[in-house]
Amino acid sequence: SLVHGTEIVAGAQKGHYAIGAFNTNNLEWTRAILAAAQHKNVPIIIQSSMGAAKYMGGYELVQHLVRDTIKSMDITVPIIMHLDHGNYEAAKEAIAAGYNSVMFDGHDLDFKENLEKTKEIVALAHSKGISVEAEVGSIGGEEDGIIGAGELADIEEAKQLAATGIDFLAAGIGNIHGVYPENWKGLNFDRLKELREAVPVPLVLHGGSGIPVDQIQKAISLGVAKVNVNTEQQIAWAKQVRKYIEDNKDKEVKGFDPRKLLAPGTKAIQDTVEQHIDWFGTKPVK
Ligand code: G3H
Ligand code: ZN
Repeated sequence: SLVHGTEIVAGAQKGHYAIGAFNTNNLEWTRAILAAAQHKNVPIIIQSSMGAAKYMGGYELVQHLVRDTIKSMDITVPIIMHLDHGNYEAAKEAIAAGYNSVMFDGHDLDFKENLEKTKEIVALAHSKGISVEAEVGSIGGEEDGIIGAGELADIEEAKQLAATGIDFLAAGIGNIHGVYPENWKGLNFDRLKELREAVPVPLVLHGGSGIPVDQIQKAISLGVAKVNVNTEQQIAWAKQVRKYIEDNKDKEVKGFDPRKLLAPGTKAIQDTVEQHIDWFGTKPVK
């Protein structure tokens, strides 16, 4: 069933594990992510970027898609429908559409404006029990048109954002969206420790695809309670769909039946999501 994010992510922080946040793009992705959560018997965050919501036809449609798929699949584990990297307008729209949680990503604004708008979104969201994620510093690379320089989270700014009453905080600690470059230096654990000591809110690790598992687990032990993963599912999906198309291109019916063609991709998404749930040590909610 659909639930708000605050308590579940706070519970993860207390229990020293993390909740996985996975991006959806359509019906198949939604089914795969929900099936993984149900199979592992754990809570999960299913999120849409602004771009994915636009692609699918709007926040309301995405919210209804997730809500109705939960019902049709008899999903009983807690599901949090979250807006990933939303701007001010998107956060408001997702709140109105019934999302359970929103990220207001103000990394491209000057800090004063980021802080003011975060405050406004917190007031609006909390009046409906909806959780809010803010961002300090920035995530390097690009995701769905959101581009960041990758600057490290500033401790003073983190304190001010945390004081707005946000429920979780995404922090730039050397993490990057998309595929990590060969010469990547790894996560900045010193900055993560400083953040942990400075602010009590659960921290969010973005750019979860391709970070070595030991680094992810170390980050979780240092207070990360939500890990976002997107590119890895895309790569797994594309690889299996491509393989199916190649293998079956000469077979008449199988070669172009969309349901058959997408099935191996859907399975690949479910498998990667389950793998990440194991890595994050996500525990069932009692
Ligand atoms: O907001 C979503 C994520 O931070 C996903 O990043 O595509 O590098 O896994 P990723
Ligand atoms: Zn992100």
